[in-house]
Amino acid sequence: MGIETESWRQGGDTSWFTHDRFGLFIHWGLYSLGARHEWLMDREEIPPDLYRSKYFDKFDPDLYDPAVWADAAADAGMKYFVATTKHHEGFCLWDTAQTDFKAPNTPARRDLIAPMVDAFRSRGLRAGLYYSLLDWSHPDFVVDPSHGPLRNAADKEALNRGRDQSRYAAYIRRQVQELLTGYGDIDIMWFDFSYPQRPGGKGRDDWESEELVRLIRKLRPSIILDDRLDLPGIGDVITPEQFQPRVHYTRDGAPVVWEACQTLSGSWGYHRDEADWRDADELIRTLIDTVSKGGNLLLNVGPTSRGEFDERALSRLSDIGRWMKRHSRAIYGCGEPPAGMATPPDCRLTYNAETRRLYLHIFAWPYKHIHLDGLKGKVAYAQLLHDGSEVALSGLEEWQAAHARNVGLAPDTLSITLPQLRPNVAVPVVELFLK
Ligand code: GLC
Repeated sequence: MGIETESWRQGGDTSWFTHDRFGLFIHWGLYSLGARHEWLMDREEIPPDLYRSKYFDKFDPDLYDPAVWADAAADAGMKYFVATTKHHEGFCLWDTAQTDFKAPNTPARRDLIAPMVDAFRSRGLRAGLYYSLLDWSHPDFVVDPSHGPLRNAADKEALNRGRDQSRYAAYIRRQVQELLTGYGDIDIMWFDFSYPQRPGGKGRDDWESEELVRLIRKLRPSIILDDRLDLPGIGDVITPEQFQPRVHYTRDGAPVVWEACQTLSGSWGYHRDEADWRDADELIRTLIDTVSKGGNLLLNVGPTSRGEFDERALSRLSDIGRWMKRHSRAIYGCGEPPAGMATPPDCRLTYNAETRRLYLHIFAWPYKHIHLDGLKGKVAYAQLLHDGSEVALSGLEEWQAAHARNVGLAPDTLSITLPQLRPNVAVPVVELFLK
């Protein structure tokens, strides 16, 4: 097989991505009006015509100002964003020529993606677009028993008469072509999702994934693609959602690029009544935990139907920003620590291989010392990162050292001494300058 025919298999450029580490996910659509989970159409089995008649002409984001969103993301330290252009409901936020089920035909009366991309770019963030492979409103999308509002319909066969999944796959390609040609250089294309393992489920044959990827690679060879197209070996990023992996992802033994996507409160779309929001400290720890395993974090906000980030989201973003302002050096350009470096209890380590600085993130403040195995003689200087104040590279005093064995110290253990008072930041970090 010639290089030409195989070039679509070549991956995108993830070099900026693994440096930047932190992005904003945005889930916005008609489900923001329902305000009770972006899957409400499926969960409540609301047929497409009813769903549309209920929400379509009420979608009026009169408070939408993407510059405010971009500011909130940039101030939180985020370096890229990924926004839903179409979620499973099928509603399109941009001015697509392929359907009338789109924002310009609602009271919004305009393309909502274009100003978003512009606003984020002007704050220096890169642009990613999420596109749902599922489409519960499209007349050619074959109704299956696994997902969608019509999944329990008794007359599925009758419903599917005349539906043509391949025509739908062509619709996907035309829409993706619009998205990749109408909004400048898009950096990430984020497809969601395949479910071939489910009864009547859908995967690469239903989306015609290979043809889709060929098209994308022709339009934008360097774009980053996620891994949800059901094409083994294709996808630049592995995308665990709603859980944290314990170790760096690998494929055939080699580390691969990965990105955790996480919610603030459980659902992705705006959910008015969800009360179990994660607090900022936990979100910061999640970011650190992710980077300590060499991954990225894509943290989600579901804007309201009127076009705002809810106060609960804004306050978290601003708390994260307060921490990032002083600690982003321990995130950007960082990844997992060198192999074999032991992480002390209640801590995470991130490492910048270029500057050779190691970051010790302290989740629970210890009694005076932290002991770092294998680092004795290898650290030139240490400081608390938030205020650049020196941390002593010495541990137990002589009379205490007699107990070294019981303390669990080895000859190569470096002990550092911390101030008694825990610094008043979400997660204190010690920056260690390796020799
Ligand atoms: C899921 C859900 C969805 C969300 C996505 C984010 O697959 O279907 O609602 O958009 O994950 O990763």
